[in-house]
Amino acid sequence: MRTTLKIDTTAGKHRINPNIYGHFAEHLGRCIYDGFWVGEDSPVPNTRGIRNDIIKALKNIKIPVLRWPGGCFADEYHWKDGIGPRENRARMVNTHWGGVVENNHFGTHEFFDLCELLETEPYICGNVGSGTVREMQEWVEYMTFDGESPLVALRRANGREKPWSLKYFGVGNENWGCGGRMRAEYYADLYRQYSLYVRDYGAAPLEKIAAGPRGDNYHWTEVMMREAGHFMDGLALHYYTRVNDHNIVIEEPDGNKIYLAKPNAVRGSAVDFEADEWYAIMSAAYFTEELITKHSAIMDKYDPEKKVALIVDEWGTWFDVEPGTNPGFLYQQNTLRDAVSAGISLNIFNNHSDRVRMTNIAQTINVLQAPILTDGAKMLLTPTYHVYEMYQVHQDATHLPVELITGEHEHDGQKIPWLSASASVDDNGKIHLTLCNINLRESVEINCSLAGLNPRRISGQVLTASAMNTHNTFDQPEQVKPRQFNEYETLSDGLKANLPPMSVVLLEVM
Ligand code: AHR
Repeated sequence: MRTTLKIDTTAGKHRINPNIYGHFAEHLGRCIYDGFWVGEDSPVPNTRGIRNDIIKALKNIKIPVLRWPGGCFADEYHWKDGIGPRENRARMVNTHWGGVVENNHFGTHEFFDLCELLETEPYICGNVGSGTVREMQEWVEYMTFDGESPLVALRRANGREKPWSLKYFGVGNENWGCGGRMRAEYYADLYRQYSLYVRDYGAAPLEKIAAGPRGDNYHWTEVMMREAGHFMDGLALHYYTRVNDHNIVIEEPDGNKIYLAKPNAVRGSAVDFEADEWYAIMSAAYFTEELITKHSAIMDKYDPEKKVALIVDEWGTWFDVEPGTNPGFLYQQNTLRDAVSAGISLNIFNNHSDRVRMTNIAQTINVLQAPILTDGAKMLLTPTYHVYEMYQVHQDATHLPVELITGEHEHDGQKIPWLSASASVDDNGKIHLTLCNINLRESVEINCSLAGLNPRRISGQVLTASAMNTHNTFDQPEQVKPRQFNEYETLSDGLKANLPPMSVVLLEVM
């Protein structure tokens, strides 16, 4: 089959919100401690305790927004434990993630400092599962109020005179599971109550984000939009790309779902896998399209003007932990397979950017599909990092709809396209196409028409390797990295390109 891509370069209607390229950092394993934070006395070069190499790497991919402190951790985090002199901060057990001691050395002040160093928007997730309305209200007051109140006096006593600028606040996390095992109807009511006390003290109103569904839990979206849609700015979908679900899902008669941990769930190795597992992950990444389409259709019913954003604030691959590491730390390697599946997911988010206005990959450092891994003072950039590096051109550009006709691969009764694509035009008139070829053996030739443009100059980058599980290690950190791509030809009305097997390609056309 001839593979064609049609793009009308004048058909753009809306911007791709830069927040689609957002990140997520939880107090889980070595994401915060060892990842972002080493402390001021560490031999690892740092700025006020935050690693300099990490700041540099993340600034290079322009991360627009960072979600913190969880995740499941958020629903048992008590923010007052993480303020004041570090040596006096309460120590607690991180029950979800490895049962280790959390010393609270990284708290509210350190998080805002990190965001200021990264020039990124903070997105804070509050505690509904085990916290109180008062606790949430006081946290927001502590962070954002500039008047006179006991909370402001406390912030000032802790060294921060002026409030911080905070735009995004999550009212709970996964409240159908680790955030309280609630029914949608119950959480919808709690959301209405808690979100009322999340007051607007800052210059601009806070954007309030409700905990959304897990994967295909459409009942959750229906109930949340019906009961609380008027009171939220975003609804957060969580979807992990994995070979096997690690939960047993039971549907209750009223449409709610119960998620029970599957004993000894096997998710497969991140590096040691067969062709079938490659395609299983591609198929799981493509499933994002169906999820977003169906959740968006429900949202459209209650909110046709698309005021409420669909926010995918946790997504990414989830494999077995690396042998010998703490099972509660979720540390996994990251191969070319992760890169191609990230490319597919990001293309899907771009293509739905009228409704999807923020996403946060789980998680930035050392956890799940991490763009960055660390080992003591060493740091490496994973194939997934390089996808963010290549795709950053889409941030705040105008989305261009794509019409892609391509062959399909059959995996487990599902037909999945060989290619995935998205496109945008930036303010300088440069068109960017990002394409993924999931084929393990064959390259795919693509004919791309670009109506409204006479291409004068094309350049490209490609991310690929000779084996599907190629990855970067601390000894060989550059096995997978973007290289110049020359396999294209300019046509009078577009271009022709030959996309290598297992690749992510970026084309810039002027
Ligand atoms: O990202 C790891 C965990 O996955 C998060 O804490 C939780 O929200 C989700 O189940």
